[in-house]
Amino acid sequence: MNERGEQSLLNVQGLTKTFAIRRGLAVTRFHAVDQASLVMQTDRSEIVALAGESGSGKTTLARMVLGMISPSAGSITFRGRDVSKLTVREKRSWFMRQVQPVFQDPYAAFSPLKRVEQYLFTTAHNYRAERAGGTREAVDEALHAVGLSLQEIGGRYPSELSGGQLQRVAIARALITNPALLVADEPVSMLDASLRMSVVNLLKELREQQGVSVIYITHDLATAYYAADRISIMLRGWIVESGPVESVLGDPMHPYTRLLKQSVPEADPDKRWEGRTDLAMLEAEEYLMGGCKFAGRCPQVMDRCKEEAPENASVDGRAVRCWLYAS
Ligand SMILES: Nc1ncnc2c1ncn2[C@@H]1O[C@H](COP(=O)(O)OP(=O)(O)OP(=O)(O)O)[C@@H](O)[C@H]1O
Ligand code: SF4
Ligand SMILES: [Mg+2]
Repeated sequence: MNERGEQSLLNVQGLTKTFAIRRGLAVTRFHAVDQASLVMQTDRSEIVALAGESGSGKTTLARMVLGMISPSAGSITFRGRDVSKLTVREKRSWFMRQVQPVFQDPYAAFSPLKRVEQYLFTTAHNYRAERAGGTREAVDEALHAVGLSLQEIGGRYPSELSGGQLQRVAIARALITNPALLVADEPVSMLDASLRMSVVNLLKELREQQGVSVIYITHDLATAYYAADRISIMLRGWIVESGPVESVLGDPMHPYTRLLKQSVPEADPDKRWEGRTDLAMLEAEEYLMGGCKFAGRCPQVMDRCKEEAPENASVDGRAVRCWLYAS
């Protein structure tokens, strides 16, 4: 519930996913997502960005929210209902309609041998069969919302559409069920730079015109700044800073957010953080680290940081997980 007693759209609390990895002969467990919390309200639609280096737990968090994998601990409540307690039928006929995924690679979502409109008609048939209005109207409406039409894409195979058009078709397919929330995991990272902004703009339009909320997962702080209302920054399973996008990216408080901001020249979304430091080697080490997971790289590290994991502090309208801000 929010301060006005309204139910939240999505309420993720203490969400944790533990994986086991083999290191030599030993099996080590680590939390790919560790006590993550995220709340989205019903009284306004929002785009919430989730950003962080490769291997920070973004996709794992998204997959839990989508119900594709189950959490090891913590809870996900959607419109006041605990998702883990839904029956298979409720999950399929209610939750999965309301919360729709948009994946990174639009070409992987469609068979090269099938005309793209077949996917839309199948989804419309499955989900709208019992509703008023035919499947053609539902497909038309969804395509219209993403700036396409049946006339344009009808009869075409995936290879006959651009990546940007295909991602729009994927989003149209997601819209057919009238979702309240899209979980978009790097939806533009595989598109040509010239097409990226059109898809990011589409997410903004859907939020503004159709009232759809979006979890927008990205490496790209520039599009996050442009599109999102709020942002959560992830580091090795932790959400280390979250709040309004203007304040978090305009004036980052957490040393890791500062590093991310410095590492990405804002004008060039192609430049990623990977390759700047040897992140693959750091990944396992940082996941398994006691204390603060950023202690090995933090310019402001203190003795305490290596021993004790920081708690979230509430500062200037945002949450920051760093000892520098502990009261
Ligand atoms: N099924 C799994 N079994 C074991 N480890 C996993 C599994 N899925 C993910 N991981 C590990 O969990 C960590 C987080 O992975 P995740 O894919 O969520 O990160 P990400 O932030 O989405 O990264 P990227 O930006 O590269 O997509 C990584 O160390 C990854 O190797
Ligand atoms: S807790 Fe310490 S090591 Fe971690 S980010 Fe803050 S100052 Fe740096
Ligand atoms: Mg990912």
